[in-house]
Amino acid sequence: MCGIVAYLGDKQAYPILIKGLHRLEYRGYDSSGIAIINGNLNLYKRKGKVEELEKFVKGKDVSGTIGIAHTRWATHGEPNDENAHPHFSQNKELSIIHNGIIENYNSLKEELITRGHVFNSDTDTEVLIHLIEDVQENENLDLAESVRVALNQVVGAYAIVVISKNDNNTLIAAKKGSPLVIGSGDGEFLIASDATPIVEYTRKVVYLEDEEMAILERGKEIVLKSISNIKHTPYFQELTMNLDVLEKGGYEHFMLKEIFEQPHSIRESMRGRLRLGQGIISLGGITEYKQKLMNAKRIIMIACGTSWHAGLVGEYLFEELTRIPVEVEYASEFRYRKPVINEDDVVIAISQSGETADTLAAIKMAKEKGATILGICNVVGSSIPRETHAGSYTHAGPEIGVASTKAFTSQVTLLTMMALMIAHDKGTITNSRHQQIINALNDIPEQIEDVLKTTDAITKDIAAKFKDSRNFLYLGRGYNFPVALEGALKLKEISYIHAEGYPAAEMKHGPIALIDEEMPVVVIAPKKGNYDKVVSNIQEVKARKGKIIALVSKGDTEVRAVADYVIEIPDVEEMLVPLVATIPLQLLSYYIAVMRNCNVDQPRNLAKSVTVE
Ligand code: G6P
Repeated sequence: MCGIVAYLGDKQAYPILIKGLHRLEYRGYDSSGIAIINGNLNLYKRKGKVEELEKFVKGKDVSGTIGIAHTRWATHGEPNDENAHPHFSQNKELSIIHNGIIENYNSLKEELITRGHVFNSDTDTEVLIHLIEDVQENENLDLAESVRVALNQVVGAYAIVVISKNDNNTLIAAKKGSPLVIGSGDGEFLIASDATPIVEYTRKVVYLEDEEMAILERGKEIVLKSISNIKHTPYFQELTMNLDVLEKGGYEHFMLKEIFEQPHSIRESMRGRLRLGQGIISLGGITEYKQKLMNAKRIIMIACGTSWHAGLVGEYLFEELTRIPVEVEYASEFRYRKPVINEDDVVIAISQSGETADTLAAIKMAKEKGATILGICNVVGSSIPRETHAGSYTHAGPEIGVASTKAFTSQVTLLTMMALMIAHDKGTITNSRHQQIINALNDIPEQIEDVLKTTDAITKDIAAKFKDSRNFLYLGRGYNFPVALEGALKLKEISYIHAEGYPAAEMKHGPIALIDEEMPVVVIAPKKGNYDKVVSNIQEVKARKGKIIALVSKGDTEVRAVADYVIEIPDVEEMLVPLVATIPLQLLSYYIAVMRNCNVDQPRNLAKSVTVE
């Protein structure tokens, strides 16, 4: 949460910083701000989105070739102008942007107040920049040393960039817990929370490690050191990101673009891994740990949000295919509930961003207890892949819409491939069945293309009918129970309609009391497994006059006879239904949100990357 971008070079910083903020707005949009040095240290900040900041600075002096900028997701202090970043130090000579939480800010603040410091905001960040200045003045140190010494007094998480009015040649950055990447271009440096603001200026980047700081000086090489003052050699990496993926490409919203990208993103997840001709699946990233996974006594999936739903699909997949017991845990619960973890447990951490604080902490805890940790992440170079023993990237490409869509289907694709690979090697599946599922998985992108074509109009019609509903219920059984959860989450996130997902059979233990003629009930009812039982659940809803929106297999007549609306999906392998059934549910939420004039890509109160507990 919170997006950081900084620039030092020979170009005007302002346009680069603003563009960067737009790219990072998915990380939070409670307020934004910018500080640029040009003789003065000009600092502007505003509550609300980046466009509010742009309006505010019109006509003001934003010239200068060094600056820092921030978009905020509020933690300490309400989202107002004062609490927006950047923050000034006491004498207004230093300025800082920060992502993370300084846990001991209260005690530091009290001490600084006794020394005459006056604070203008409720933030932990302002305390840190006052502390840096205090160190600088009392110990007579240069800026980099002052930052280093101050960070040694800090407990918590941070990604920071600091500038000084008296030095328009230097940016100081540091990180612990929150991500930070530095781009090194031709006579210029960029710093950002992820690579998206950097990629069009340079592809040469360094990811900062925890407790590492960078000293970037005009015309000089990057200097890296630990906050305990040990020099590090920078490890440069090449960004492979394609710029097109950062634009809407003709779609009204990133979310719609990302929904329609799914045939492509799933193909990317499978590329080079699903080898149809050879009848094998090869996941290079986990080769070394394959044996460990095959011999695992238990698999524990840990994740949050949509990624947790992917983990639930993974549970059904792994148990059916590999016969290894699976538990799926919310990372935030797992990390605090003193779980029993053994050395022959394999933890699979699932995360789009690779930065979710709870998932990261849960991994560290399980690792300490001796478990093997594998990651399934989307953002290359993020923190979780660096904390795991091994893993596979989903390769879904940058996901900008805050509500996750293509990342989810790619996570499910990855889990399917992983389970198939282990089942094949373990011999818990016959060769012919293995080949059959591989073939079916390979066909999924094409089938999703079909789903996108055939369900776009119908989901729009249904959205128009139900856009004013106050509640929605989503039901599914087996593999489609997580799909019901994900469908409900999508609707809540972007349309602010209350929605709940339930295992269909559980409805009679409570939610059935909610059903009346006002209640839309979305039922995922493909002609598979528990079809007859799902049909009975539909009858139970109809008997109470609920409105049924059913997802059915092509050509279905039985559910069609009782449902109010039907959406047809292709007839695929039962374990692959989540991949196709999710698509119309994403579209339905999208169209309802658009019709309710909601901000689809940046829903209120949410952030895409949740780097706080
Ligand atoms: C936030 C996002 C969700 C996401 C969840 C987990 O809540 O808004 O879309 O599913 O975090 O994020 P991760 O990056 O770990 O998958």
